[in-house]
Amino acid sequence: MTFAHRHLLGIEQLKPDDILAILDLAETYVDLNRKSDKHSDVLSGLTQINMFFENSTRTQASFELAGMRLGADVMNMSMQASSIKKGETLIDTAMTLNAMHPDLLVVRHPHSGAVDLLAQKVNCAVLNAGDGRHEHPTQALLDALTIRRAKGRLHRLNIAICGDIAHSRVARSNIMLLGKLENRLRLIGPPTLMPAQIGEFGVEVYEDMSEGLKDVDVVMMLRLQKERMDGGFIPSEREYYHRYGLDAAKLSLAKPDAIVMHPGPMNRGVEIDGTLADDINRSVIQDQVEMGVAVRMAAMELLARNQVARRMA
Ligand code: NCD
Repeated sequence: MTFAHRHLLGIEQLKPDDILAILDLAETYVDLNRKSDKHSDVLSGLTQINMFFENSTRTQASFELAGMRLGADVMNMSMQASSIKKGETLIDTAMTLNAMHPDLLVVRHPHSGAVDLLAQKVNCAVLNAGDGRHEHPTQALLDALTIRRAKGRLHRLNIAICGDIAHSRVARSNIMLLGKLENRLRLIGPPTLMPAQIGEFGVEVYEDMSEGLKDVDVVMMLRLQKERMDGGFIPSEREYYHRYGLDAAKLSLAKPDAIVMHPGPMNRGVEIDGTLADDINRSVIQDQVEMGVAVRMAAMELLARNQVARRMA
């Protein structure tokens, strides 16, 4: 198994074999995380710094837990919104932290491309925990692991991604990952929430849930990213729920064993019905959270190995 990357900045740079290497290693961590002793020492002696310039619950918690379970020294920097105004500030912060010799830097930032920029300035491995509307690679990887475990495979599935595609880094990373593994993708949502370059993605686009959901194996719902909207993208939340909110009636158009996914945080009653989200026979939303810790452990282990090898060379 070779995973030749220095950083994990996006799915774009990964080959199918890289993706499968992370998922296969993550499977071993799913098992470890279900034991009472969850400790390993593969990152023992290494330092992980988490820098979140944007709010996060699941991603930050799971990166922190992942590092601790692998035995790293983990530090969380809570970055105030006021410190992110200028690119210079970001680079200055990165240089300061770099001088403290971290081995792994986990970064979330509201600007697309900010994490790539930062990776060019530091000596350690950088993991993108979400940059603007660009990429969120570990989310796509945890989604892939969840799908593979639920469906028994990760190719030739019909997968619908629904809602606010335009503002979603989760959608972008998932479209790339699932496309690389030869799945059939459909994007469903109002035209105002579709990205302008949609033609380049090699996907089918639907405006109507009842057409788009027909016979799909996986339904991935997305949150309306209101913080990234600068005007009226939808008439009202009520109208949106009526047309695009996933409920049992709309789901009945998908395959009978179709699974329901959502990266969180959910707006119940806006993009998804709360009862459906909690239905463990259909919804794998809690599995996604569980897979998140395992996938992040795997990604950090692979990057740390390369990091240590580079230093020895
Ligand atoms: C997503 C994110 O931050 O991009 N959440 C997550 O990481 N679990 C999706 C979202 O914010 O809607």
